[in-house]
Amino acid sequence: MNTMKRIIIIAMVALVSGGAMGYGEVYPANNDVRDTESLQRGAQLYFENCVGCHSLEYARYNRVARDLKIPEDLFERYLLDADRPIGDLMTNALSPALGSQFFGTEPPDLTLVARVRGTDWIYTLLTGFYKDDSRPYGVNNALYNNIGMPHAMVNQQGLCAEAPGADGCQEFAFEGSMSPDEFDLAMVDLTNFLDYMGEPIQLERQRIGWFVMAFLSVFLVFAWLLYRELWKDVK
Ligand code: HEC
Repeated sequence: MNTMKRIIIIAMVALVSGGAMGYGEVYPANNDVRDTESLQRGAQLYFENCVGCHSLEYARYNRVARDLKIPEDLFERYLLDADRPIGDLMTNALSPALGSQFFGTEPPDLTLVARVRGTDWIYTLLTGFYKDDSRPYGVNNALYNNIGMPHAMVNQQGLCAEAPGADGCQEFAFEGSMSPDEFDLAMVDLTNFLDYMGEPIQLERQRIGWFVMAFLSVFLVFAWLLYRELWKDVK
């Protein structure tokens, strides 16, 4: 009886975790949220290629400008639609109903996607598009089979002829404006930006973390000196 129970539990866990979701293999993003230049490039890619469909509605433009050290006037000139105040939440004009009509499924808000899916998942998704004429947009995704999203960066990456594996795309149906290495870096930057987006405070937390470690190390020295001083006469 006990073994039976165990088998049932193991089968249920296996079913719920991964197997049943049908996602492919995930590859490491190796992004670094402390790399401000990478975050800036990622933000630019996001505002140029993704924000039309995916809002970031739990964050404000000026917070991003401040955290990523992008001067507000440059941010307004290059990254912001002319009619949006920089203090706005990053919603977009595509209503959920219209989105569902276009894509069969609503493009989700991506503010928290890195926390839900993880950065490796996002990176693998963004580098996983390939040619598949049986799909409505002519593309499929190695991680997310039958994804309802077009390949937003097809002009930059080109179109991979077959599902890319651990070594990336091996053969292109047609090439894009970026080299494979440039595209790969761009997707790391984009993933990095979404990682920051999901938890803006992590930039600050890491800075504070180092400060606390430094403080504790100095404190330790004094604590030890004090200890020696106090116990000197006792021993
Ligand atoms: C033309 C609209 C469109 C554009 C542009 C677009 N997406 Fe999407 N995206 C979608 C749709 C629709 C889905 C939902 C697909 C599904 O679930 O089948 C999606 C899903 C996703 C998901 C998966 C979310 C999840 O948790 O399931 C991620 C991550 C994502 N998009 C990132 C991006 C990034 C980054 C860009 C910019 C390079 C981008 N998208 C550009 C329409 C778009």
